[in-house]
Formats: sequence, structure tokens, C-alpha cells
Amino acid sequence: MIPLSGCTGIQSALDPKGPAASELAWLIWFFTGLCSLIWLAVMIVLIWGLSKRRGDRAEPLDIDEAGDRKATRVVTGAVAATVLMMIVLSLLSYFSNRTIAAIGGQNPVTIKLTGHQWWWEVRYESDQPRRTLTTANEIHIPAGEPVRVVLSSTDVIHSFWVPALHGKKDLIPGFDNELTLKADKPGVYRGQCAEFCGAQHAHMALMVVAEPREAFDGWYNAQLSNARQPETDEQRAGHDLFMNRPCIMCHKIQGTKAAANTGPDLTHLAGRQTIAAGTLHMSRGNLAAWIADPQSVKPGARMPTMNLSGDELNAVVAYLEHLK
Ligand code: CUA
Repeated sequence: MIPLSGCTGIQSALDPKGPAASELAWLIWFFTGLCSLIWLAVMIVLIWGLSKRRGDRAEPLDIDEAGDRKATRVVTGAVAATVLMMIVLSLLSYFSNRTIAAIGGQNPVTIKLTGHQWWWEVRYESDQPRRTLTTANEIHIPAGEPVRVVLSSTDVIHSFWVPALHGKKDLIPGFDNELTLKADKPGVYRGQCAEFCGAQHAHMALMVVAEPREAFDGWYNAQLSNARQPETDEQRAGHDLFMNRPCIMCHKIQGTKAAANTGPDLTHLAGRQTIAAGTLHMSRGNLAAWIADPQSVKPGARMPTMNLSGDELNAVVAYLEHLK
């Protein structure tokens, strides 16, 4: 069981928590079983053939041409039928996932997920402009409901993969892909970029938080609000530093003059579970480590080093940590 112990948990295709992933897990087990049986059959025939010794005298083999031809036809037919069955099962699974997409409710939650080197921009679409919401690196969804995810990229090809919920789907610059995300039960599921996209591909993760509908609505409404005002002197100092440094050239904090969208929206940063797209857990220490020297945490990331003094760093961290 030890080799399989890695197959459960928040990021495993073999521990499915949604319909699309269940379908895939079934295929994985079925193909594994089928291929094991075929391997076993080949080994049995091989061992049987090897064990039929012809004795010491080298006599010419009896050649049974008609029998050989028949055997060839049977084996070829069996191989073709097996491959065909695997193709048909794969296609059925593909189309049944598309059906889930088609029945995605009257007005499903729609998320525009955009890949960047190396983070995820998450925008919740709405007919009402005031209900449109942008966040990063963490997707909240109502459990038990199909959610429409439209995938695109601003730079290179990335791939969205939350193994416990669905198969991989590429994020392609200039092209919209689509996928239906559904978690059967509330829970936190980890996703990972699944297409090599540069130096920090491995540090391009995201979290999917599936919550009961009420909790999801609560989260959504809270996210729509402006960022919290600084309350302590330290937070105020951090706020002022943030607004007077190049931070505002990349980030947005809703309700302040920081309104750029090159980097992740930080309006409710401290409410997220991770920093830098799943690279670090959200904590005061990690936030400080990340801001002090992003290039040693995630070399090549677009976030530059800010050259802050110790006090300045503490102040900025105090302000950002306050943005729940
Ligand atoms: Cu983005 Cu790999």
C-alpha cells in the first residue's frame, strides 16, 4: 500500500471528488487492469513456448502454414478490437464530460481564468459590472454545482489541472478553451499548471475551494468590497509605502489608487491560502520573505526586489496582512 499512499489527498487523479475526475479515474483503473491482463497472457504464452524444449537433436521445425496464418489473424483481430475498445471508451468519457458542460445550469458561475508566467488571474463574470470580481491563484466555487471556466493566456501556453476534479485543459494565448468544474462536496483541492511554461512552471499552482452555496455567496460578496482601510500606524505607514513605490505599477488594491493589472489583484490578499501561486503558505513570515527577496523564492518571477529597510518591510507586511 505504501506506493499508493501518494494517490490520495488534495491533488490526486485517483482520489476523484467530481464527475469529470471520477470518469477519468474509472478509465485509468480499467486500462491498468486490462493492460495487466494482456501482459500476463503474453508472459504465460512466452514461458510456455520457452519451456517446450526440443531435446538435443536439431531437427527441422514442423511448419504448419495454415495454423500460423490462423493464429496471426486471431492475434491481429484481438489487438485491433482491444485498441478500438480503448479508443471508444476514451471518446465516451470525453463526450460525457462535454455533456456535463452542456447541462451547466441556467446561469452557472462563470470564471475567466487567465494564465500568466507564473500565476493565475481569476475573474468572475457577471451581467452586472458591479458584480464582476477579480482575484488570483485561488478559485472559490459552490460545491455540487457545475461552474463554467473559460481558459486563456496572456503569454505562453499553460495548462489548468486540478487532478481531483477534472482532466487537463490548456490555456492558449488568443484562444478561449472551456471546461466545466464541479466538486461533489465541499473541500480544498490543489491544482497545478500542467504544461511547461518556463523557469517557474513548477511554482504555478492554485487552490480550488469548494464551499456550500451560502458560504460561497458570503465569500463572493465580501470579495466585492473595497480593501480594508489601514487601522494601526504601522499599517498606515505600509499603505503609504505601497502607494508611493513601484508596487502600484503592477498591482491593484480596490478602493486605493493602486489600480494596475499586470500582477495579481491584492485587494483581499490575506484571505488566500498561499502566496506567489502556491509557492508559500500565507503567513506573516512568508509574506515578508517574499516581499524582501522574491527572486530567491521564485527566480525569474516578474516581481522585483523592492530594497526596503527592515521597518519599511514590516510596515508593508503589516498592511498587506491586514487585507483580508
Ligand atoms: Cu504555467 Cu506551466
